[in-house]
Amino acid sequence: MLEQITRQNLIHAGKANNVYATNSPDYLELEASDRISAGNGAKTDVVTNKGVANNQISSATFKFLEENGIPTHYVCEGSNKSSKIVKAAEMIPLEVICRFVATGSFCKRYECEDGLEFDEPFVEFTFKSDSAGDPPIDRKTILALPEKTLIEDERELNLIEYYTARIGILLSEFYERLGVKLIDFKVEFGRISSGQIILCDEISPDTCRLVDIKTGEKLDKDRFREDLGDVSKGYEEILKRVTSNG
Ligand code: TMP
Repeated sequence: MLEQITRQNLIHAGKANNVYATNSPDYLELEASDRISAGNGAKTDVVTNKGVANNQISSATFKFLEENGIPTHYVCEGSNKSSKIVKAAEMIPLEVICRFVATGSFCKRYECEDGLEFDEPFVEFTFKSDSAGDPPIDRKTILALPEKTLIEDERELNLIEYYTARIGILLSEFYERLGVKLIDFKVEFGRISSGQIILCDEISPDTCRLVDIKTGEKLDKDRFREDLGDVSKGYEEILKRVTSNG
C-alpha cells in the first residue's frame, strides 16, 4: 500500500521544511530544505546538503524513538534523499523544549550563567506563533486556552510532558554512545484522526544543541546563530556518527 503513496502539490513552505500533499489524505511528504534561519527569520542563509543530512538524522532518530515506545509520525522514506512520508496530523501549536544544561534563551530570560546542569530533563513550553514571537507559556495558561493551544485536557498535556522527558532520556543516551552531549532540544506534537498524540516535525541539529564530548565543539545550529564558521560541519559530523551507529 505504502509503495502507492505519491507526492502531490506543495501545501506549506516553512522556514526550513516543505510539506507536500500525497494521493492519500492520511499521509504527507515532508522535505527538509537547505534553508537555515535564526532569530525568528531575522538571519537566513543556505547550507548545502543540510536538507539531506537533517532528513537522514531525523528519520534515524524517529525510528529509534518509535522502537523505544514513543509514537511518531514517521512512516517511510520519501521520493528523494531529503524527504520522508509521515502521518498527517493536526499540529499542536506548542514548542516543547527539554533542557539538560542551562543555556540560550533560558539564561537570557533569567540572567543566569551558562552551564547549570539539571538533575532531571527540564521541560518548558512556548506558544508557537510567529506574530506573538513564540512566547513562553505555562501549564495553567495552556489549559485555560484550549481553543488556541488545542490541548483538550490535563491528561493530554501530561502525556506530552512525559513523552518529552522520556525522549530526552532516550536521546541523551543515544548521543552519549556517539560521543556527543545533548544539551537541549525542541519537539512538536500532533493529533492523528484516531485522537492519538504523536511526535511530529523533526529532531535534528536544527532543533537540538549537540556538543562533542571530547573537544567541546558545537555540532548544531549554534554554529550559524553565533557565526562560528563552517556551519555544514556540524550537520555532516552528526550524520556520520548517527548513520555509522547502524
Ligand atoms: P532556546 O535556548 O533558544 O530556547 O532553545 C532551546 C532548544 O530548542 C535549542 O536546542 C534550539 C531549540 N529551538 C528550536 O528548535 N526552535 C525554536 O524556535 C527555538 C526557540 C528553540
